[in-house]
Amino acid sequence: MLRKSGANKRALKTSAAEFLPARRTLKALRSAAEHCQGCPLFRDATQTVFGEGPATSRLMIVGETPGDREDLEGRPFVGPAGRLLDDALEAAGVERSQVYITNAVKHFKYTLSGSRRLHKKPTAREEGACRPWLHAELELIRPEAILCLGATAAQAFLGRAFRITQHRGEVLGNDSCEQIISTFHPSAVMRIPDSTERARMRKALFHDVKLALEKSRRR
Ligand code: URA
Ligand code: SF4
Repeated sequence: MLRKSGANKRALKTSAAEFLPARRTLKALRSAAEHCQGCPLFRDATQTVFGEGPATSRLMIVGETPGDREDLEGRPFVGPAGRLLDDALEAAGVERSQVYITNAVKHFKYTLSGSRRLHKKPTAREEGACRPWLHAELELIRPEAILCLGATAAQAFLGRAFRITQHRGEVLGNDSCEQIISTFHPSAVMRIPDSTERARMRKALFHDVKLALEKSRRR
């Protein structure tokens, strides 16, 4: 379909806010998010990958963007990164079905390499455009603790200056949640070539998942 250039510019200025439903239930949010065009990422992705888990969850886990598998299945963290997250949750003594899992950005962003779709990091603008969904999820769930996986999620709550390398494993807060813990993204852990360094990061990830779980239970 041909677009006028003015229309294109307008499209870039929009955000998910225009697509939020009047009725605020997880179900209503999820179905409204299916039609979100708040940033250009909806165009090349298969579907919106919304958060999942009980509305009563005390812990909310936030990743970056869905990956290839997530995009195809329509569920967060069902690919290789999800398996590592599942292992960390199991080691901490909680089942995935007991926590709410979502992403800062809800459409898969990728670049093609032959027929392979390679993950691309969303821009600050895309994260900002998608944030109304994340905030709406947060308002409904009101978790006792949030675990951010990677810088994109952490920056959505704690600002662009946040650095995982400096502040991972710290319990920080903002106006909407008093216990926000950030850790390495499972995909980042898996990408580390050096096995000693990879083991160190994996240990930190497992530690932080457990910490977030404990914090979510204690209050
Ligand atoms: N990485 C993420 O950040 N989220 C997913 O859902 C899968 C991989
Ligand atoms: Fe909407 Fe977020 Fe998808 Fe962009 S990434 S179209 S803001 S749901």
